Amino acid sequence: MCGIVGIIGNTPVAPQIVEALKRLEYRGYDSAGVATLEYGHLARRRAEGKLRNLEAKLSDAPLSGVIGIGHTRWATHGKPNETNAHPHATEKLAVVHNGIIENFRELKAGLEAKGVRFETETDTEVVAQLVTHEMRQGRPPVEAVAVTLPRLRGAFALAFLFDGEDELLIGARHGAPLAIGYGAEEMYLGSDALALAPFTDDVTYLEDGDWAILRRKGADIRDASGAMVRRPRHKIPVGSFMADKGNHRHFMAKEIHEQPEVVGRTLAHYVNFTAGRVELPFELPFDFRALKRISISACGTAYLAGLVSKYWFERLARIPVEIDVASEFRYREAPLEPGELALFVSQSGETADTLASLRYATAEKLHTLSVVNVPTSTMARESTLVAQTLAGVEVGVASTKAFTCQLTVLLSLAIAAGRARGTLTPEEEKELVDALIAVPGQMSEAMKREHEIEILARELSKAKDVLYLGRGTAYPLAMEGALKLKEISYIHAEGYAAGELKHGPIALIDETMPVIVIAPYDHIFEKTVSNMQEVAARGGRIILITDEKGALESGLDTMATLVMPSVHPVVAPILNSVPIQLLAYHTAVFMGKDVDQPRNLAKSVTVE
Ligand code: M6R
Repeated sequence: MCGIVGIIGNTPVAPQIVEALKRLEYRGYDSAGVATLEYGHLARRRAEGKLRNLEAKLSDAPLSGVIGIGHTRWATHGKPNETNAHPHATEKLAVVHNGIIENFRELKAGLEAKGVRFETETDTEVVAQLVTHEMRQGRPPVEAVAVTLPRLRGAFALAFLFDGEDELLIGARHGAPLAIGYGAEEMYLGSDALALAPFTDDVTYLEDGDWAILRRKGADIRDASGAMVRRPRHKIPVGSFMADKGNHRHFMAKEIHEQPEVVGRTLAHYVNFTAGRVELPFELPFDFRALKRISISACGTAYLAGLVSKYWFERLARIPVEIDVASEFRYREAPLEPGELALFVSQSGETADTLASLRYATAEKLHTLSVVNVPTSTMARESTLVAQTLAGVEVGVASTKAFTCQLTVLLSLAIAAGRARGTLTPEEEKELVDALIAVPGQMSEAMKREHEIEILARELSKAKDVLYLGRGTAYPLAMEGALKLKEISYIHAEGYAAGELKHGPIALIDETMPVIVIAPYDHIFEKTVSNMQEVAARGGRIILITDEKGALESGLDTMATLVMPSVHPVVAPILNSVPIQLLAYHTAVFMGKDVDQPRNLAKSVTVE
């Protein structure tokens, strides 16, 4: 998604803005731009494509202003070209924007009727023109922004720079995050604290509806009603900014390899290793015994983590679980009972659809529990309870370590629920906790298969379509495998419940179709073997991901069998995430794809 940076500095800010934008590259973008005041007047440089194109423009025609704003754009309205790139400017101001102005058409029509001419296809330009229109009527910048903001509908963050105002930036937050950074006689705006990390660790997160007037010596924050408000300042721990690739070629590779460590770290937060018990790091404001239902909503990989946990909550704690992708949940007007638990899963804690679902559940008076990776995120701040995943900053657009940490937290929650409801005995709990504790080490073991997986990936890269199959918790994992492969290699892939094969997808099977079957040796292994036989009989090329017992018992000719360490079947989806991630990663690398920033994708999806 789009990234925003603003600086009131003391030296030329354009290079600093570009550096900060680089830290936001992980969010995904397709054009970029900077505006500064050159001798008091607005000047812009913008470029289609990656930041290096903007840097080339700045090198040909440098900007020397000490106040400025910058942006990486992920196109929503209008093509990703230079004309549509931000900042958008008039003779009065420049503006950058993250999110969507939903009522831009009607606002634009109103302005056009007054003779205003538009240059771009974007929704953002309407903001520039509305504020400019107010300024032309004689309003000063702050007042012009104040009367414009209530007219905008949608989810957005904005940053304004004004011609002739070398001491003023205005930022506004309405549904998309924006943070203020404090420096020595310098002030900053950023769409997340990571962007501001090179400049300051002293940060305020604007709340929804807030807007802020930044001057060199500080910021005045106002709420949606225009009243002055105080918002807390946070010291951001240095460790949270550790975002380099280490010895790896890509962030995704680094993040896959970090999993034994971060899953272990997350586990230590939820489990008493010595007692072999789950100990949640928070008090519950409800009793698991009284829960009639859990409603889960999330998007993408986080949704699939939620889907795995449905099996866990239902089997281990006997709690019925409903699960939706958040973009459906928020509009389907589900009947909910006050006192039920609504559970949300999100790496970023900013995903627009998941956040909207959280707000819907809050309005319906449900208990809300969010499993999030970013503790300062909006979802973390707006939920009754936060169950943090300790995956650290995840930069690769393809979620990997956040997923396995989500699974770790969700399984811990399901075990705690099972104990509270008496559906798990202390011995069963200990067995599960011991199985969880063993996972980080087993993940390291699984990674020793990487070379084998890399060779297999070369074969996979020739495929046009790939089918992933699994039963039980391996079914959502099959969907996650397909999602991982398609998002970074652009090979079409589908994840299916193995038992559904014969109800349609089997028609696709021929000798060109790799079929990846995730089948740990468990109580439904034999059923999956039958489905594999159906594939083999039609010439399908099977890649089997299983354990030693499964490899022995399958009795099938496969294109390859990836033998993972033998684990307790309940924790198998955490472990088996490793081979599916590595397979997708190496396939995409072999095909020369941009693994960390796949086309059209964004890390944090703050639009509907
Ligand atoms: O930040 P979130 O976990 O809420 O993001 C949800 C999805 O956008 C995300 O998981 C997406 O599907 C990833 N690209 C998957 O790798």
